[in-house]
Amino acid sequence: MSSKFNIVSLIRKKRDGEVLSKEEIRFLIDSYTADEVPDYQISSFLMAAYLNGLSDEESAALTESMLYSGIIVDLSGVPGKKVDKHSTGGVGDKLSLILAPIVASAGVPVPMISGRGLGHTGGTLDKLESIPGFTVDVDLARYKEILEKQNLVLVGQTEEIAPADKRLYALRDVTATVESIPLIAGSIMSKKLAEGIDALVLDVKFGSGAFMKTEQDATKLAQALVAIGEQFNKKTIAYLTSMKQPLGYKIGNWFEIEESIEVLKGEGPEDVTSLSHLLSGTMIYLGDKASSVQEGIEISKQQIENGQAFQKWIDIVKEQGGDPSCIKNPKKYPVAKFEFELKSPRDGYISELDAFEIGTASVELGAGRKVKEDQVDAQAGIILKKKVGDKISKGETILTAYTNKPTTIEPATEQLYSAVSISDTKPEKELMVTKVIDKKGVQDFRL
Ligand code: URA
Repeated sequence: MSSKFNIVSLIRKKRDGEVLSKEEIRFLIDSYTADEVPDYQISSFLMAAYLNGLSDEESAALTESMLYSGIIVDLSGVPGKKVDKHSTGGVGDKLSLILAPIVASAGVPVPMISGRGLGHTGGTLDKLESIPGFTVDVDLARYKEILEKQNLVLVGQTEEIAPADKRLYALRDVTATVESIPLIAGSIMSKKLAEGIDALVLDVKFGSGAFMKTEQDATKLAQALVAIGEQFNKKTIAYLTSMKQPLGYKIGNWFEIEESIEVLKGEGPEDVTSLSHLLSGTMIYLGDKASSVQEGIEISKQQIENGQAFQKWIDIVKEQGGDPSCIKNPKKYPVAKFEFELKSPRDGYISELDAFEIGTASVELGAGRKVKEDQVDAQAGIILKKKVGDKISKGETILTAYTNKPTTIEPATEQLYSAVSISDTKPEKELMVTKVIDKKGVQDFRL
C-alpha cells in the first residue's frame, strides 16, 4: 500500500495524546473502509481514541469521514418531513419497534436505519431478524420503495450508508471501545445524517445499563449529538432517560418483539408504554403532524387505541418478508430448550436490578455476541417477574432465563444473582426521564 500517511505513526500520535488533523482522520477512516488497514490497527487506534479522547475538531472530522464514507440518501421525492429516533443503547430497549409503526401510522415517514447488539446492549436489527423471514438487508432503491409505500422502513446499513460506521461498530463491539462520547456521537450521527431525515429524536441513556454511566456524561453526549444534528440543519431533540434497570420485563431478541406487540396492542408495561408515547409524540411533532409534543403524545395514544399502529406493524413485517402469523399469535413462536428461575433469598423489596449485569447475562445466554462472528440466538433471553420497588417473598421468582446453551446456565445464574439487590424498605420511585436537550440548551424534565 502506498499512502500519504503512515498508519503506525497516526496510532502512535493518538496514543501519545496528540491531536490528529482532519486529513489524518479522513485517511484512517477511508483506508479502513477500503480494506487497506487491518482490524488490529484500527482497534488500537480506537483504544487510543477511547483512552485519550478526541478534540471537537477531531470528533467533527470523524463524523464527517464516516458520513461521507457512503452516500447521503435523497428522500426529497417522499412527501412529508422524515423523522427518525435513535437510542444510545440499553437493555430491554425495544422502543424503536413500537414507535416506528405508531409514528408512521400517524402520517410521518420514518426511514429507520438501525444497528446490531453492541456490548451488553441489544440491537434493533437482531430483534427484527428474530421474526421468521424478516429481512433488514435491502438496497437503496428498495429502501425508498418501502418507505414510499409504507411510510416506514426498518433496515440495516447498506454498503452505501455510512459503511465506515458499519465496520467500526462491529469492531468496537468486541474491543471494549464503545463507551466513548466522540465514538458514539460519530457512529450515531453518521448513520442518521446519511439516511435522508429532516429531524431526529434521541434517547440518550444513563445508568449501569447505558454506555454513559452518569447523568453528567449522558448530558455531554446529548449535547454533542444535538450540536452535530443542528450543524447539519436537522431539528434534533434529545431526552435523557434512565437505564439503571432494564426497560420493561422482557430482554432478548424475540422476547422484545413480543413485548413490543403487547405495547402496540395497548397491553404493555407502564414504563415502556409511557416512554414510547413521549418519543413518538415528539417525532409526530417534529414531523409537523402536531403543534406540540403534548398533542403528539395524544395522537400517539390514539394510534394504539384505534389499532392503526398495530396494523402498520403487520404491514411492515409482511412488506419486509416476515411472517405476520407470529406477530398476530406470538405464542406460536418456539421457546428455548432450557429455562431456569432465579428465586429470592429473602423477603423484602427489589431495590436494584442492575441493567449492565442483566444485559451481560443475556449475552452469555446467547442473545448477543462475544466475538464478531457469533450468531445471536433469537430465543435466548430473560423475562423479569419483578421490577424495582416490587415486594417479594423468600422463594418467589425474580426472573426466568432462557437459553439453548446449557453450559451458560451456571455463569449466567451467578451474574444474575449479582444483579439483584433486596432491601427491607420500599425504595423511592426514580424518574425515568430527567432532561430534555435541544438547540436552546438543557432543561429539566420529569417522567
Ligand atoms: N448506537 C450506535 O449507533 N452507535 C454507538 O456507538 C452506540 C449506540
